[in-house]
Amino acid sequence: MERRDLPAFLGRRAEIAQIRRLLGRSRLVTLTGLSGVGKSRLAEEAAWSVRKAFSGGVQVVDVSREADPVALARTAAQAVGAGEGRLLLVLDGVERLAGPCAALAESLLRSAPGLRILATGRRSLGVVGEHLLPVGPLPPADAVALLANRAPGRGVADLNRKAAARLCERLGRMPSAIELAARRLRAAPEPTTEDLFDDPFHETAARGALDRALELCSPDETHVWARVAAFPGPFGLADAERVCVDVPPPAELLDALIGLIDKSLLIREESGGEVCFRVPRAGAGRPPRAHSRDRPVPCPRRTDDLDGPPVLTRREHEVAELVADGLSNREVAEKLVISKRTAEAHMEHILAKLNFSSRTQVAAWVARRREDR
Ligand SMILES: Nc1ncnc2c1ncn2[C@@H]1O[C@H](COP(=O)(O)OP(=O)(O)OP(=O)(O)O)[C@@H](O)[C@H]1O
Ligand SMILES: [Mg+2]
Repeated sequence: MERRDLPAFLGRRAEIAQIRRLLGRSRLVTLTGLSGVGKSRLAEEAAWSVRKAFSGGVQVVDVSREADPVALARTAAQAVGAGEGRLLLVLDGVERLAGPCAALAESLLRSAPGLRILATGRRSLGVVGEHLLPVGPLPPADAVALLANRAPGRGVADLNRKAAARLCERLGRMPSAIELAARRLRAAPEPTTEDLFDDPFHETAARGALDRALELCSPDETHVWARVAAFPGPFGLADAERVCVDVPPPAELLDALIGLIDKSLLIREESGGEVCFRVPRAGAGRPPRAHSRDRPVPCPRRTDDLDGPPVLTRREHEVAELVADGLSNREVAEKLVISKRTAEAHMEHILAKLNFSSRTQVAAWVARRREDR
């Protein structure tokens, strides 16, 4: 495997460790996630880190550049055929040829006992024995570090760290969107991260990944997404059934939800032993562009109160009040005697439920409520 000369790679230590572990026990590992979340780069770094364990070498096939399944099979067979002993094949970007790649993976794994495959895709291959590793957005600190790395000295100095963090949140902490924002920061004459907030571009950059994932969806999945994308927070199967009364029939609704999870358009969560679903941040509370014209999409706010205002828990109200008084997360944590992490989690929930992206918006919302009282 050749080491390419790429800009710095940041974070993802836990994911690399997990890929190493998974490759130790499984012959097919697939990294799934939205476009631009960093699957290809992560696969490359992971492959580099395990290369010494593969005496037969590491081969990378860029499936996303290949339109012809026959040519793809030939390229992959050549790559595998050349190696003796333990060999790692990286199949990068399988989404458009998922079917042929699944068949290829199965036949290569059958014929080459020393072979392991690391695939990346906006959807899984769906092969028996495939181990999935969903790749999510960068954690907040790594997202800011990426922005600072790609736009050095451009308004991401300590003074502006908060603005940088907010900007990264707005970009869904997606590496590709952050790199684009950094490019714009570098190009502006006197750029600060604040400048980018008025820029409609970030909307587009963060939503582009969702739009690309939607292109892979079946009609049922697209219909279901158009309805559940309006949920600003977690929702259950019953909630999905309620907003999807017309399409599709209940048995297929579950299939559609599973299909959406596979394409990273929904995140599956468990809370208190119950399974629920959540729309990734870049899509939360907003119906997708392509379908908003078709018909009005219901915008349920919470499971038992479809018409009322968004409901915060008592604790979230307390946090929102303190934020409106200008307290930082740390100060909120101290005041309520909770950990900073918990305060941050409350804040995340508040932003998601109210479909806001900044503390200023929360403060304005609290101020309006105080006036109404
Ligand atoms: N952890 C990281 N550190 C530094 N750069 C990163 C990181 N993750 C991703 N990037 C950069 O972000 C950009 C998008 O990442 P990448 O191409 O891996 O996304 P992807 O998930 O494979 O997207 P697609 O589904 O469109 O192929 C690339 O320029 C990549 O180098
Ligand atoms: Mg990729």
